[in-house]
Amino acid sequence: MTRIFSGVKPTGHLTLGNYLGAIRRWADEDQHRAESLFCVVDLHALTVDHDPARVRRLTRQAAGLLLAAGLDPQVCTVFVQSHVDEHARLSYVMECVATDGEMRRMIQYKEKTARAQAAGQGVRLSLLTYPALMAADILAYGADEVPVGDDQTQHVELTRTLAERFNQRYGHTFVVPRATPPAVAARVMDLQDPTGKMGKSHDATAGIIYLLDEPATITKKVMRAVTDSGTGGVEYDRAERPGVANLLDILAACTGKEPQTLADDYDSYGALKRDTAEAVVELLRPLQARHAEFSADPSYVDGVLRDGAAAARALARPTVDAAYRAIGLLPPA
Ligand code: TYM
Repeated sequence: MTRIFSGVKPTGHLTLGNYLGAIRRWADEDQHRAESLFCVVDLHALTVDHDPARVRRLTRQAAGLLLAAGLDPQVCTVFVQSHVDEHARLSYVMECVATDGEMRRMIQYKEKTARAQAAGQGVRLSLLTYPALMAADILAYGADEVPVGDDQTQHVELTRTLAERFNQRYGHTFVVPRATPPAVAARVMDLQDPTGKMGKSHDATAGIIYLLDEPATITKKVMRAVTDSGTGGVEYDRAERPGVANLLDILAACTGKEPQTLADDYDSYGALKRDTAEAVVELLRPLQARHAEFSADPSYVDGVLRDGAAAARALARPTVDAAYRAIGLLPPA
């Protein structure tokens, strides 16, 4: 059976980008067709400036949101990365397989480094080695598929390279995974800066729809979205009209229609924005209601995470042990 692994990083409140680009598909399709593991990758949240209490809070909140989005612990495994030691164990091995140059070429490393340096902050070493940990996350479980948004495909490509290299040098140990980006909404853009992705760790929040935003807030953010100055109605043109194209992509992802077809239905930005706002509010309504229920009973989420970690550990352990043996480490007597 196909195995799937994917994750979210608790560096901020989850966004519409996370949902449309990844989580919705995990819940609606992936968990039902494959053996699936979904992880809140808290170790990754320590690669940038962080507040310990906030990371802890966001980790539990992200887990609650995954369940609220429809991940069913009866059919898939939901857990927290730091609860399973195998991730850190294998990450070190992947650091011994990757090169410094490969890590430095990662777009996210370059972007985040530039941002940290502009703010006069140091860059944590773990930001550089981030893709080794991400490769470990995926390879520890022998995942065939990794459903992610566009921004993560480069990391999954590197994971493939590392798996192939390890297998060639030390004997077949890892399944070589592939990224499976969604057909629509692979890159939801910021509503205020539609040339950049909607990212949960950004400081400016007016262009970001959070999954737990109130309906009125969602509506306000969509109505204030930057549109383009082009004349002549609503057109779907990502290069020339990125703001409008982003709204059309979001509405398409909410309604299941094609963005191009939707463009033909509108002759004003105002109407497009109103319908997009309404579609997002309706899309998130059930998720928000379920999240409120889980928040009232945190012990449910904690129980799911405890069982999830046990199941994940049992799967990862043999693969990571095999990788340790293959690379030359003496097994304990
Ligand atoms: P993260 O937490 O940034 O994002 C989680 C998922 O949401 C997708 N995503 C988006 N999709 C469309 N439009 C957007 N604006 C948008 N923003 C985020 C991401 O592509 C991702 O699928 N490095 C990963 C976490 C990770 C991971 C893994 C993922 C760690 N180990 C192993 C898969 C497998 C990350 O930072 O995702």
